Amino acid sequence: MILPKPKKLNIERYEGGLSKLNKIDNPIKLSANESALGPSPKAIQAFEKEKNIIFKYPESDSSSLRDVISKKFNINAERIICGAGSDQIFDLTCQLFIEPEDEVIVTEHGFIMHRIYASLYKAKVILAPEKNFKASVDEILKKVSDRTKIVFIANPNNPTGTYLTSSEMINLRQKLRNDILLVIDDAYYDFLDKKDFTSGLDLFKDEKNVLITRTFSKIYGLAGLRLGWGYSSKNIIDSMYQIKPPFNVNRAALSAGMEAIADNEWIEKAFQHNKLWSKKIFSVLNEYKIQTNEFTANFFLMHFNKTKKNSEEVFEKLIKKGIILRKMTQYKIPNALRLTIGDNKSNDCFIECIRSIFK
Ligand SMILES: Cc1ncc(COP(=O)(O)O)c(C=O)c1O
Repeated sequence: MILPKPKKLNIERYEGGLSKLNKIDNPIKLSANESALGPSPKAIQAFEKEKNIIFKYPESDSSSLRDVISKKFNINAERIICGAGSDQIFDLTCQLFIEPEDEVIVTEHGFIMHRIYASLYKAKVILAPEKNFKASVDEILKKVSDRTKIVFIANPNNPTGTYLTSSEMINLRQKLRNDILLVIDDAYYDFLDKKDFTSGLDLFKDEKNVLITRTFSKIYGLAGLRLGWGYSSKNIIDSMYQIKPPFNVNRAALSAGMEAIADNEWIEKAFQHNKLWSKKIFSVLNEYKIQTNEFTANFFLMHFNKTKKNSEEVFEKLIKKGIILRKMTQYKIPNALRLTIGDNKSNDCFIECIRSIFK
């Protein structure tokens, strides 16, 4: 019998962090850069209210949420598109732009979903080397060819936790050909409070050849609802609407998202929590010669080259205590683990375990 045959896919599969452990109930999951405090209570209330109307389709173009976003960031609502996670915006972008033989540039340890979507649409993915785990504008520019269609960059980047400064980003856009789309993934921008950093949206909201993505999965704590958005020229966004699935963002995500983005007090609380713990954890890591990035987001990439125990041993020891970190195998970063800043109890527990492992 000849059976239906899916086409051959030659693409890497996204490997999520572990979330369950065989012998331990309720492990401490610090492997997915989720929010430490969860969403604003107002977002939860909005989510609960929505349950009475889930038999109705959501808005097909997320217009209420786009209005709220447009007011908050002072941008044109017609240039915003919402998606089921910023993930869907990467998907739509690649679907819209990539033609056979096109090249997409990503950085050596850039966020993996960018390259996965690029290869899904059959682009040739070109890796630009990093310098000490930081993207390099020169190396990106060296990789540009006649076939380059898109350059993806997460700023700050996951999992390296490094960032390009405002002037480096401006330099990159200026030196790239005008017909190359620069996609800036702003997923962690809210955590980064440095004078030499500006978010992609603030830098490039008036440009026509930049697409910026934002997510509700990080500081807003709505990863489970899948909500994100993209911002670009009216022309690009209009074309995206043509290929977007009709009801791509669900009712609960839209309602909770509108409350989450408006609750500045909660956002500030989440920011302060992250800052406080990042400082504490950074100094503990330092004590044990675990090298890491300066604090830029809600995670640390920890290198174990100068420690007595390697990343594999540390990973296993933490697992025994019920703490799950993210291995860096898929990112091909040897002897390293990524740690998400968690809630008070999880962070205390992590610190206690690190002390006992390295004492
Ligand atoms: C750099 C970066 N961009 C985007 C995302 C995914 O966002 P979303 O949940 O909106 O798809 C992540 C999630 O870890 C990320 O690290």
